[in-house]
Amino acid sequence: MKPVVDLVAGARPNFMKLAPVARAVAAQGRLAFRVVHTGQHYDAGMSDVFFAELGIPAPAVHLEVGSGTHGAQTARILERYEAHLLAAPPAAVVVFGDVNSTLACSLAAVKLGVPVVHVEAGLRSFDRTMPEEINRVVTDALASLLLVSEPSGLANLAREGVEASRTRLVGNVMIDTLLAHLEAARARGTAASLALEPGGYALVTLHRPSNVDDPRTLAGLLDVLEELSETLPLVYPIHPRTLAAAERAGFLARLRPGRPRLRCLPPQPYLDLLSLAAAARVVLTDSGGVQEETAVLRVPCLTLRDNTERPVTVELGTNRLVGSDPQRIRAAFADALAGRWPAGQDIPLWDGQAGARVGHEIAAWLGA
Ligand code: UD1
Repeated sequence: MKPVVDLVAGARPNFMKLAPVARAVAAQGRLAFRVVHTGQHYDAGMSDVFFAELGIPAPAVHLEVGSGTHGAQTARILERYEAHLLAAPPAAVVVFGDVNSTLACSLAAVKLGVPVVHVEAGLRSFDRTMPEEINRVVTDALASLLLVSEPSGLANLAREGVEASRTRLVGNVMIDTLLAHLEAARARGTAASLALEPGGYALVTLHRPSNVDDPRTLAGLLDVLEELSETLPLVYPIHPRTLAAAERAGFLARLRPGRPRLRCLPPQPYLDLLSLAAAARVVLTDSGGVQEETAVLRVPCLTLRDNTERPVTVELGTNRLVGSDPQRIRAAFADALAGRWPAGQDIPLWDGQAGARVGHEIAAWLGA
């Protein structure tokens, strides 16, 4: 009998990370697996479409927890996942990234003596006001095997006292997904279907609580975006959190679809977002994943945050931290348009083979 591992996903960025690992584990044939979906993200456009596009097997377990406060959502996942673990304990639980589902499933597992493997371990923004930073620190403290995407992760874990025998640099599984779908994404021509010239627009994604939850911050960012859109059309898929925040603050009209130079769209399927990112002149974002994707696509990326847990995207990639100050955003945007920007370099192990390395490391560690 092959050892069974649970592959856990809950929120959108998890799906792109789980897909290549599921594929590799199936191809290697050393382990069996169950896909567990917590239901943290549940809209068809935030979840189902990714399973379909990325060929992820239907979840064997679906916890259907939905949205809530951090405490309520985490508690629901804990309680519901524990019941599944008790009924059919796997040999290990594999969690991805830094969302609430990552933390909750790790905690449920270790309390029952089921070891946890963390894919994308060791990243640190050193900003504990970010919910993801709490999730990263706690998950890494609970995990037995820590699989790391970039060198900073190894250094952070070593500094925190994690033995090197439990850490491995395996590369970036999300980039496996990008490389596997890039040709199809380019062929999709999403920009052209929106009547945008390839290279003639900027892509915007913003959803962090620190940028969107406070009405004054969000209004200030929308002011800058409107200003920049006079120079270059912007295309802006709106995350449900941002939409909800804009509605609460009473400026939903500023995000209405149909404005020619600030093109607000619903959340985009994976292939369309990749298509838009690959052909953008510049990207403005607060997403961790988009910082990594633009580094590989060699597209200038302005990160509207003061810190990043992915420093390799700044050191070797095309990422620059600009915060939320309009003056800095304006200046960086001008630099990007003028070509005053690093061209970017290859990032070691972001090569499309990270999922295979993850599969082999887990199988070897379980003695399979
Ligand atoms: C979560 C992750 C974040 C990740 C992001 C990617 C945590 C703490 N945060 O943030 O790290 O970058 O996902 O998308 O885990 N909503 C819907 N439909 C859905 C899901 C959410 O309408 O399918 C709305 C709800 O109003 C919900 C809000 O979005 O309250 C926030 O969702 P939640 O999963 O709590 O956090 P995200 O902001 O999506």
